[in-house]
Amino acid sequence: MAVGAMSLVLLALPVTAIAADEGADLFKTKCAMCHGADASGKTAMGEKMKIRDLRSAEVQKQTDAELEGIISKGKEKMPAYGSKLSKEQISKLVGFLREAGKKK
Ligand code: HEC
Repeated sequence: MAVGAMSLVLLALPVTAIAADEGADLFKTKCAMCHGADASGKTAMGEKMKIRDLRSAEVQKQTDAELEGIISKGKEKMPAYGSKLSKEQISKLVGFLREAGKKK
């Protein structure tokens, strides 16, 4: 019995780790070239386009719905991702941005 429960815990661990990292992984592959892996916007593209630090208070004070809207519809030079990413992926990205904002 005890052994059974142990192996269940061991099996469950990697799955949760992947779910938690999905937003960060998506951000790294789709967004980091402009926003930087840490969302600071300190990239050559970011500086040229004058992208705000996504961890800054100005960005963080927007609601999840507003941020999801910007990601799906785009804004100025920010590309629209509504047709490329699922709603679930976009909400994971906002989750990642919230985490990044807390760490700053
Ligand atoms: C081609 C470069 C580029 C890529 C790739 C890109 N962005 Fe952006 N992003 C921008 C620019 C430029 C802005 C600033 C738009 C403005 O306000 O003029 C922006 C703005 C934003 C904002 C709003 C910030 C604010 O000032 O309120 C969010 C949120 C955001 N991006 C998230 C993302 C996410 C998530 C991804 C990946 C799915 C992504 N971006 C990919 C260029 C990019």
